[in-house]
Amino acid sequence: VILLNPGPVSLSAGVRQSLLGPDLCHRESEFYDLQDEVRAGLLASYQLDPGLWSAVLMTGSGTAAVESMLTSLVPENGAVLICENGVYGQRMAHICARYAIAHERVRGEWLQQLDLAQIEQRLAAGLAAARFTHLAVVHHETTTGRLNALAPLAELCREHGVGLLVDAVSSFGAERIEFGDPSLSAIAATANKCLHGVPGIAFVIARRPALAGAATRAYYLDLARLAQLQDERNTPFTPAVQVCYALAAALREFAAQGGRAARYRRYAALAEQVRQGLAGLGVGAVLPPEECSVVLRSYRLPHGHTYKALHDVLKRAGFIIYAGQGTLADSIFRISTMGEVTTADIERLLRCCKDFLG
Ligand SMILES: Cc1ncc(COP(=O)(O)O)c(C=O)c1O
Repeated sequence: VILLNPGPVSLSAGVRQSLLGPDLCHRESEFYDLQDEVRAGLLASYQLDPGLWSAVLMTGSGTAAVESMLTSLVPENGAVLICENGVYGQRMAHICARYAIAHERVRGEWLQQLDLAQIEQRLAAGLAAARFTHLAVVHHETTTGRLNALAPLAELCREHGVGLLVDAVSSFGAERIEFGDPSLSAIAATANKCLHGVPGIAFVIARRPALAGAATRAYYLDLARLAQLQDERNTPFTPAVQVCYALAAALREFAAQGGRAARYRRYAALAEQVRQGLAGLGVGAVLPPEECSVVLRSYRLPHGHTYKALHDVLKRAGFIIYAGQGTLADSIFRISTMGEVTTADIERLLRCCKDFLG
């Protein structure tokens, strides 16, 4: 089966094989070698200086990393402005509400770009006479495939002296991320999307000075504690050891294949192949390609066909596509091109779509 959903992804043979590595106690030096390799590999994937940045691992899915980032990096007396144009922006607001983190939301339509003027105005106004300390945004809003541009947000953050916290769960490893911008404080991401590992390990890459002032609202997801212990070749809890094997293997393949820029090009070619092929069948993309990620794109369900019918036909042919979420469930479907997916796979997918549409 070929997974065209936004993670977990179809695995390479090498990553799959790595799961059969030797049994390993996480209190032995061999595990800390593995942990060090993964942490260094994550930083190397965006050429980040380990003196300036820390890649902090946690056992959990992408949401764990987002939760760890928000609960730890917004200080006790801080406040965060959350940009929302999809499910994952909304989720950040739900996390802040659950932990009683002072926050406000700039809510936009799910198919629309973020309203920069409104964000700027809200940053300037502050929250109940207090200053926002952070702005939080989803880089690639997987709800629609929209890539929210980080550069203009980082600039606003710089002007207003706030830190930028980025959910990069479905963009890290493929899309450009402006780590060089001093306002970018941290990103949260996961093993099983653009990096092609298996689910179970998520991570935050944070500026070291930001970790120094971190809050401790969460216990398991306490980012500063995780970072400190991992720097000391330690770990507070039992990590998903085999998932670390897979992530290390995936990072080695990532580097051997040319790193982030090569992965971007590979995804872009596949995403365009899908877009142009579907356009030829009369199936339109929801957003123009220049506003989308190369990771996943949304398409309008062709008139007179349900998602279920399309999904089931493609599943029988060995492809898993993905439904729209929330109010978009009846009108769109999504195709991701992460993982071990080839042009030949996409050619066959398009032939199946053509047969389905008659
Ligand atoms: C942008 C974004 N953030 C967060 C998540 C949540 O990740 P997980 O389901 O691994 O918790 C996802 C999952 O697709 C995502 O696409």
